[in-house]
Amino acid sequence: MRILGIETSCDETAAAVVANGSEIISNVVASQIDIHSRYGGIVPEIASRQHLLAIVPVVNRAMSEASVSWQDIDGIAVTFGPGLAGSLLVGVNLAKAIALAKQLPIAGINHLEAHIYANWLASPTRAEGRVGKEIPLTAFRNLSRDVSFPCLCLIVSGGHSDLVLMRGHGQFEKLGRTRDDAAGEAFDKAARILNLGYPGGPAIERAAISGAPCLPLPRAWLKGSHDFSFSGLKTALWHLVQKERILTNASLVADAAASFQSAVVDVLVAKTIEAAKEFEVRQILLSGGVAANKSLTERLLNSSPLPVLVPPPHLCTDNAAMVAACGYYHLQNGQVDGYDLDVVPSLSLG
Ligand code: KG4
Ligand code: ZN
Repeated sequence: MRILGIETSCDETAAAVVANGSEIISNVVASQIDIHSRYGGIVPEIASRQHLLAIVPVVNRAMSEASVSWQDIDGIAVTFGPGLAGSLLVGVNLAKAIALAKQLPIAGINHLEAHIYANWLASPTRAEGRVGKEIPLTAFRNLSRDVSFPCLCLIVSGGHSDLVLMRGHGQFEKLGRTRDDAAGEAFDKAARILNLGYPGGPAIERAAISGAPCLPLPRAWLKGSHDFSFSGLKTALWHLVQKERILTNASLVADAAASFQSAVVDVLVAKTIEAAKEFEVRQILLSGGVAANKSLTERLLNSSPLPVLVPPPHLCTDNAAMVAACGYYHLQNGQVDGYDLDVVPSLSLG
């Protein structure tokens, strides 16, 4: 079963063809980062216009790179929320037009659920770790055979930091979420404070390599809850930068980046493992753009008593292969949407 996935929820215009929910046949992502970085963040008006310009060429390229015709496609999966309304509309409207013209079933996909399904995509850089063991970061594994329920999903992206219990396909229960900034948003704001550019996550990660996590920054543990909070950390970083005149010295900037990254990672890892133990899950599934962070991945792999599944970095950030993988399970399950499918910008999961 071959699914065409379409993703336009934020600043990536993406299309992909995926077979049987795991095998990537093509995966095309047109990023708008260069345009938005001039403004230090995403400008919604510009994002939707760029999606309009890019979407048809991106879908055509995904089809031609997969060497398939429309007769070879069995269904369309498209992100309908959460995200920017104007951006989501571009993908949803094109998906409905194709579905109608080619008489294909359509599945509207929750972007957060799609991030989780990046863990089902077969990839040579799949990671699995157990405590006390050498971590085979480059182990070749077919995850569609490897996921066992129930599992705990940590979704960390630009807009969300959610801990979700997944009992089976399509069965989600939200355990915790961020009370203020999402983890990716915190990285982006910290990078702005440190003058490191946009997007902040990769910039902080690069700067942190030459620094040490030696500066005092707080961790919001929110004991007794599975929620997260990162805005206090961001404010503390701002005060530290003013007080210690961090921006006057590149090595202090590197130390600040390393200290900030370490504070975020400490909280994400500890709270995820705590919830995994409490709910007696069999696995932890990491996903979302922040899961591309090597320090987060390694720390979770090193300290988890359970197997941890992490997509390779290019499947952690927004892409349409994860949407197609998720769509496969929806369509298999008979979850077909009508032509009245609409965008839901504030959609949540579980
Ligand atoms: O999932 P994603 O591509 O888009 C959303 O759904 O939001 O996540 C984007 C977020 C951005 O905030 C970006 O700074 C962050 O993921 N990110 C990272 C890294 N790569 C991307 N954060 C930390 N380390 C990274 N290497
Ligand atoms: Zn995303």
